[in-house]
Amino acid sequence: MFSPYYRTEPERETVFVVDPRPFKFGVGAIREIGVEATTLGIARVAVFTDPRVGELAATASALDSLLSAGIDTVVYDRVAVEPTDQSFVSAAEFMRDGSFDGIVSIGGGSVIDTAKAAALYASYPADFLSYVNPPIGEGKSVPGPLLPHIACPTTAGTGSEATGVAVFDLMSRRLKTGISSGYLKPALSIIDPEFTFSLPPLVTAATGFDVLTHAIESFTAIAYTRRPTPADPRQRPPYQGANPYSDLGSVEAIRLGGRYLLRAVQSGDDHEARIAMMYAATLAGVSFGNAGVHIPHAMSYSVAGAIRDYSPAGWPADHPLCPHGISVVVNAPAAFRFTASAAPKRHLAAARALGADTEGVALEEAGNALADKLVDMMRAAGIPNGLSALGYRPDDLTTLATGAHQQQRLLRQSPRPIDQEQLHKLYRDAMKYW
Ligand SMILES: NC(=O)c1ccc[n+]([C@@H]2O[C@H](COP(=O)([O-])OP(=O)(O)OC[C@H]3O[C@@H](n4cnc5c(N)ncnc54)[C@H](O)[C@@H]3O)[C@@H](O)[C@H]2O)c1
Ligand SMILES: [Fe+2]
Repeated sequence: MFSPYYRTEPERETVFVVDPRPFKFGVGAIREIGVEATTLGIARVAVFTDPRVGELAATASALDSLLSAGIDTVVYDRVAVEPTDQSFVSAAEFMRDGSFDGIVSIGGGSVIDTAKAAALYASYPADFLSYVNPPIGEGKSVPGPLLPHIACPTTAGTGSEATGVAVFDLMSRRLKTGISSGYLKPALSIIDPEFTFSLPPLVTAATGFDVLTHAIESFTAIAYTRRPTPADPRQRPPYQGANPYSDLGSVEAIRLGGRYLLRAVQSGDDHEARIAMMYAATLAGVSFGNAGVHIPHAMSYSVAGAIRDYSPAGWPADHPLCPHGISVVVNAPAAFRFTASAAPKRHLAAARALGADTEGVALEEAGNALADKLVDMMRAAGIPNGLSALGYRPDDLTTLATGAHQQQRLLRQSPRPIDQEQLHKLYRDAMKYW
């Protein structure tokens, strides 16, 4: 699909890898978790959740199912929403002290990522920054497999259940970064859309735009065939670039998001929209876990990390935070206007899949077609109007651009190369959209 996938070039990558884990999807699936845990040989399980998700009826069903299967079940419900290095360490201490042989995470990306990190540091203790992605951390390889982890997402959002990534705020530097390794991928996910029936409107919107950006960024990422051939197959990056496999899930996730996201935000009891968005999140997670995301996500880390006084409805109000999906989508229209010239057909196809009328739109207008459609949807969903609505001022742009420029692992995935000066311009363009 508009790419050189099926041509080979000297010195260029010719191989892509598909490494998915099983998942079970559907309303009521969570009640099967006891059987699944037993099949994985789990006898004593650490269940990670957060205080709000811990109260949901579907979470109680999950615990009942584990207990009915005779599994010794211990709950840790102190996961921090938008986790930090400190909250990762606290969860790892709980894990290390508990003699567990398996892990269950029930929550959004915050909970699933915390469970991944707890499993890692409890199994292979090390200084916190050793496994963290460079240049912020040392990027040491995860030494080996972790305990079996069953991830149960409760937002239609991150797709963290399908990825080998755990994201956190590094408090000392006020920035977000992550740990990446195939060993962090949960062994199984149980994806029950019923959890999402209780998501408040702005959480639905923020997590839903996370899905859309995962899908659009994976679809417009540089093709895997553009990377140089690795000298050693083990050096092939987990984010390998767009490929025929990731495209399948990306396009369908964009199509589902265009059709159902606003319905799920505007009427939370529209179960058809909720179920479709949960499947879109799953597909987008599989795709971006395989292909990778690029500029909007790279820009999001400093937007979330440097937030001063934004406290949105639907998240814990004890400290200012910028929810992940919001920190990404506020950059997306500006970023796609910039990247479109490098992959115009893909940007136009993404706009069409979202539901924009692209009849007669010239390729030079592909970036505007996609960005304009996204802006319309953001506005209708109640997303803040750009960085200025999150409290950012023109004199913050240098800090934001310096932070984003550090995310080279993601910026390398952009179809169009970008430097720090251009990042500064994109943040300026992202200040206000309507
Ligand atoms: N690992 C990855 O691949 C990956 C990808 C994208 C984002 N992330 C990370 O994931 C985190 C964000 O995760 P998220 O967007 O899923 O949200 P979240 O886990 O932060 O949850 C958002 C809010 O919604 C509440 N909530 C969750 N499920 C609910 C439900 N079913 N009903 C009612 N309330 C519910 C939570 O208690 C919280 O207050 C960020 O830290 C982000 O950086 C990770
Ligand atoms: Fe994301």
